[in-house]
Amino acid sequence: MEKELLEILSSYQGIRSELIPILQDIQSNFGYLPEEILKDVSRFTRAPVSEIYGVASFYSQFRFTPRGNNHIMVCTGTACHVKGADKIIEGIERHLGIGEDGVTSDLEYSLESVGCLGCCALAPCATANNDIKSNITLKDIKKIFRHRKNETKMNNIPSNDTSED
Ligand code: FES
Repeated sequence: MEKELLEILSSYQGIRSELIPILQDIQSNFGYLPEEILKDVSRFTRAPVSEIYGVASFYSQFRFTPRGNNHIMVCTGTACHVKGADKIIEGIERHLGIGEDGVTSDLEYSLESVGCLGCCALAPCATANNDIKSNITLKDIKKIFRHRKNETKMNNIPSNDTSED
């Protein structure tokens, strides 16, 4: 068991009712819920791994993949959906070569679809590293990528999408 995990678990008794705070602490420490660590949590709490996944899947706060250094969240709430959020997500997926809720292999970029971000009147909305962008287009997202630290790498990623350029 990893040292960081041992430190986290040392403040718990190992009972099932502690699952959510344990998972919160793990995600806070590791950035997501690694599969191997969930197996250790299963042994510690005596809760089956399937139950732990069930609990963690129920809450949108938990992630099973790490986040990239640049994390893009696209709102798929009703207002944003109507205004073309799906097209924006598809464009980002093509641009980065990842799937929905995926992360690039170099951990530089990650994408997540989320529920309402609270700015429906300005739909479609997204966030780039917690910075809210409203009335967003795929072209805006590409501009955000170009201004990020790893500009050279981004320019090398082939894009099949030319509809918004
Ligand atoms: S539905 Fe997208 S901000 Fe509310």
